[in-house]
Amino acid sequence: MSALEYNPFSYEIHEDPYPIYARLRAEAPVYHHAGLDFFALSRHADVLAAIKDTELYTNTYGVSVEPSASHPAAQLVMSFLGMDPPRHTQMRALVSRGFTPRRVAELEPRIREMAIGHLERMRALGRCEFIGELAGVLPMDVISELLGVPSPDRAELRKQADTLVHREEGVFDVPPAAGVAFGKIWSYFGALVEERRRAPRSDLVSALLAAEIDGERLAPMEIQSFCNLMVVAGNETTTKLLANALYWLWRNPDQRKLLADEPGLIPRWVEETLRYDASSQAIGRVTNRPVTLHGVEIPAKKRVMLLLGSANRDERAFPDPDVYDLRRDTTASLSFGQGAHFCLGAALARLEGRVVLEEFWRRFPGYQIEPRGCARVHSVSVRGFAALPLELAP
Ligand code: HEM
Repeated sequence: MSALEYNPFSYEIHEDPYPIYARLRAEAPVYHHAGLDFFALSRHADVLAAIKDTELYTNTYGVSVEPSASHPAAQLVMSFLGMDPPRHTQMRALVSRGFTPRRVAELEPRIREMAIGHLERMRALGRCEFIGELAGVLPMDVISELLGVPSPDRAELRKQADTLVHREEGVFDVPPAAGVAFGKIWSYFGALVEERRRAPRSDLVSALLAAEIDGERLAPMEIQSFCNLMVVAGNETTTKLLANALYWLWRNPDQRKLLADEPGLIPRWVEETLRYDASSQAIGRVTNRPVTLHGVEIPAKKRVMLLLGSANRDERAFPDPDVYDLRRDTTASLSFGQGAHFCLGAALARLEGRVVLEEFWRRFPGYQIEPRGCARVHSVSVRGFAALPLELAP
């Protein structure tokens, strides 16, 4: 058997990481990549325990594996995702004052309207590329809608957000173009926060400027970092969920037939897609002190990748994990993380998933995918398609 290497930058891994994950779980549950000097945990129980242990594993260096994205100033870029409790708890509570379940639920009619607009345009085309027409557009527009980004600015912001996550083959760090895109997004939100400070509206940025707990408020720059986090955390991941759902249903005709008989299973379609092929495959942490796991010592101040995508396929946590099964119990799925940093946008992502797939399935239950035109995105942690060509038979 070949030597075991897990390199999250490799295009081969982006194509299909699951055979390597299976080997990691079996042969090297505490894997160390000597060249890139990171550790990786791949079993469900280990990943879960690590996510919950915010004392041992810190978020303050950010959650990415890339060397230049790993630094103690991560909170500037990632807001409270780059913080540990108790500061994380305070910041998240303040943001939650504005980013309420009600604000999310109120977005449903608007999300449906946007989805229908895209789908009707797609119907007129007959065949189309799903990422360009809908999946790559809608999530960023929903975030823009929520934050209060005006329509004319959205296309440019979306372009920068895409550049931010793109990775070149053979480059094991954040490429310069991504740094430039980050700078543009950062200054855009700086100006937006300042505008809303002077003239508040009904959007989330204005609500965050007004949010207060025990006399504490968010500084404008903290809101700017939060806007940035929303783009990084909520855009690509949701795009990938939508396309992955269409792809895996198409690859599993028995599940497609099941859905045709029971369209009420659409929320299960969302959940099983998230488990089976997690949009966010890995999150990073850094050890505060040495720890020994399965006989391997991880020294202090080492980068550890928590492989959510592998945990979701762990045979110790899910029966027949490699089977795509809409009826399965996905409660143990780690796709949105767990514990203190559990995805703040999970309800929004689920809402977007359900609404888009409901409207899509209603119109195009006979859809087909053209496999030759499919292309994968190359990212260290985000998994899914850059292109997914569809034939839209009703
Ligand atoms: C399918 C879509 C999504 C997936 C798979 C996903 C996944 C995740 C994961 C795994 C984390 C935990 C990161 C960690 O522990 O290091 C996270 C955190 C977060 N997500 Fe999501 N996410 C999605 C959509 C969204 C959306 C739509 C938003 C907001 C618009 C969002 C906002 C956030 C925020 C703010 C955090 C940080 C929470 C904290 O640090 O307390 N996410 N997400």
